[in-house]
Amino acid sequence: MDTVLSGIRPTGNLHLGNYYGAVRSFVKMQYEYNCLFFIADWHSLTTHPTPENIQNSARTILAEYLACGLDPEKATIYVQSDVPETLELYLYFNMNTYLGELGRVTTFKEKARQQPDNVNAGLFTYPTLMAADILQHRAKYVPVGKDQEQNMEIARKCARRFNNIYKTELFPEPQNYYFGAEALKVPGLDGTGKMGKSDGNCIYLCDEEKVVRKKVMRAVTDNGPQALNSEKPEVIENLFKMMSIVSDAETVKYFDEKWNDCTLRYGDMKKQLAEDMVKVLNPIRERIQEFSANTELLDKIARQGAERARESASATLKEVRKIIGFRI
Ligand code: ADP
Ligand code: TRP
Repeated sequence: MDTVLSGIRPTGNLHLGNYYGAVRSFVKMQYEYNCLFFIADWHSLTTHPTPENIQNSARTILAEYLACGLDPEKATIYVQSDVPETLELYLYFNMNTYLGELGRVTTFKEKARQQPDNVNAGLFTYPTLMAADILQHRAKYVPVGKDQEQNMEIARKCARRFNNIYKTELFPEPQNYYFGAEALKVPGLDGTGKMGKSDGNCIYLCDEEKVVRKKVMRAVTDNGPQALNSEKPEVIENLFKMMSIVSDAETVKYFDEKWNDCTLRYGDMKKQLAEDMVKVLNPIRERIQEFSANTELLDKIARQGAERARESASATLKEVRKIIGFRI
């Protein structure tokens, strides 16, 4: 069974875009691959968070992923900083990666611009830590967005270079994994193309029912259909797109016909949209609350995940040490 590894940056709560665009696919993948999901808390040190916000955000993310259906019996779910083996591999990869290569990474250049007083070595070597995350498990596939392609290229370079230097085939070259058609792009509520973490645009999985309804009722619209069977402007297309994601086909058809004969009232449509969204979100939010309240269970799941991840990583490290020439 092929191994898939996904790293989750601890940056706030999950929203509907994350759910339909990624997490739902993870839930399916855990039955088809050897899946490892981890929370990249070491990576988050590149921007210097406080200890409280590191621990809290790890628990929050864990609770949210579990609530969405990640199963700790099927997938290995762990926190990066619980697996010290990663750091040894990070060190070896740093010896074979050149300043020029790391300096060309766009995400580094962007961060360096954003935090000019904190251009630290960890930020610079972010890609080699990511390579160690992946290659310690000899993962074949990594689901990542477009912004991670350069980091993936460096991970492949680390694998190739190690194999070439030591004349081994230990590391496979990890491939970007593209979700299938079941991953949906969720539009934003502010009329922009994509739901993302910003106020007015985003519905979080943990949002209370009241908040969801309020946000949907405030979604940006226009003056309404002006001519029979006219084309929908982008903001309205987005509203329909959102409805096609959470409502059934009959409902979408009903409002589409109303658009076409110019009798659509956005207030009615939004009310229905909010209703259907709440139906999807209520059970997820309830599970988030249950998991969040049970820190003992969350910590137990993280410990169990760490144990399995360390087993997988130390098997690789044992080979690596032998190959490099260290005593084992
Ligand atoms: P954000 O854009 O809110 O910062 P992230 O970059 O943390 O979200 O998103 C993590 C993953 O969630 C992305 O790689 C992508 O697969 C998915 N995702 C995020 N927003 C959306 C969206 N609006 N529609 C579909 N998928 C999304
Ligand atoms: N860099 C990834 C991001 O910003 C997070 C990450 C860290 C990661 N290590 C990884 C993703 C290993 C995949 C595999 O989203």
